[in-house]
Amino acid sequence: MAGIAKSWHYPRPRLALQYYQTLFDVGLISALALHGKRRMGKTEFLQQDLMPLVREHGVIPIYANFWEARSDPGKTLVHAIASELNDKGLLQMLKLTPRLSASLGGVSAGVDMEYRKHGTSSLDEAFDRLDAGKTQRYLMLFDEAQVLAELAHQELQAALRSKLDTRKERIKVIMVGSSVERLSRMLRTEDQPFYRWANMQDFPMLDDDFVRYELSILHAISRHRLDEASAQDIFRQFDCLPEPFRVFLDKFLTSVNGDAATALQAAHDEMAVDGHFEERWEAFKPADQQLLRYLAAGGQELTSAATRELIGHSLGRSSPESVATIQNAIKRLKEADVVVSIARGRYEFQDSEFLHWLLREKGRLD
Ligand SMILES: Nc1ncnc2c1ncn2[C@@H]1O[C@H](COP(=O)(O)OP(=O)(O)OP(=O)(O)O)[C@@H](O)[C@H]1O
Ligand SMILES: [Mg+2]
Repeated sequence: MAGIAKSWHYPRPRLALQYYQTLFDVGLISALALHGKRRMGKTEFLQQDLMPLVREHGVIPIYANFWEARSDPGKTLVHAIASELNDKGLLQMLKLTPRLSASLGGVSAGVDMEYRKHGTSSLDEAFDRLDAGKTQRYLMLFDEAQVLAELAHQELQAALRSKLDTRKERIKVIMVGSSVERLSRMLRTEDQPFYRWANMQDFPMLDDDFVRYELSILHAISRHRLDEASAQDIFRQFDCLPEPFRVFLDKFLTSVNGDAATALQAAHDEMAVDGHFEERWEAFKPADQQLLRYLAAGGQELTSAATRELIGHSLGRSSPESVATIQNAIKRLKEADVVVSIARGRYEFQDSEFLHWLLREKGRLD
């Protein structure tokens, strides 16, 4: 690589262009829903690749991460619009809007009504501002879009759908989320306002080129050397996720002797500490823990007699666990976003680093 490496961010301009063209040039689709594993680079792609690209094409991106204020996604969106347009009036109006969580928690019908009035009017107001530039095109980016699927946000979902439907020539939407299940619940359930509204697609994982790019930067700034085959192997050990790989590179870069194995271990340790894996593990009920060890070993027939016996046995019981116990454990693990269902009766860990940690530290159950 010529000159000094500038950024660890591996750019994905072709992918960004493809989404831009699908929405703005082809025009058959006005909303896309992209899903992909946690830590695989969705947010970074939106912010560092897609937003700059659409700006170059004269489209104003509006990025809202609904995880920021999960109880009030409407406010997050209005705030995103106000900040992007640098609209002081709208920002001021938002300050006066009571929090939805407060109004729901307060159980006062009066407060709730008041909120709805303010909340709806600030959303109306925000869309009015977007209508002011008559031909201006916008791309709304809803990060952690599954938040909108929550029961408390049904009204907002409906309001958004009608606002966006009437403006679909000018305002396109990309939603992203890591929970396929929640996204599909929102887009594929008939009684949901967003039913069949967005086209669901897999967000592509990073590949070998990403690893080569990161290596080129590493070698441009460090005297430590790592051959490509080892780097690709380490990337695969991290299930091709960029985040743990970047943590590893950081450990490798700052190590004294440039030993990859030590850096790899340090990266695993850091991910476990940052992810509070041990604390999370301790908080699970014993049956949930055993079920996780079983799932980690690749087990699938969760409610079969053999599985229930195995789990009962691991809990020191002489009789098998009941079907209900297993079902409740699955339900809790799903609610806590630890596992996701990938097909009927089949589950996968949401966070692969947690899965690897569990296998290392707690052992498989099979
Ligand atoms: N294109 C990239 N080039 C280099 N590093 C990247 C790239 N994309 C992601 N990363 C690394 O991976 C980390 C996680 O990425 P990001 O937060 O975008 O994942 P995500 O899919 O949005 O995860 P989550 O589902 O948890 O929100 C980033 O902080 C960065 O370190
Ligand atoms: Mg993200």
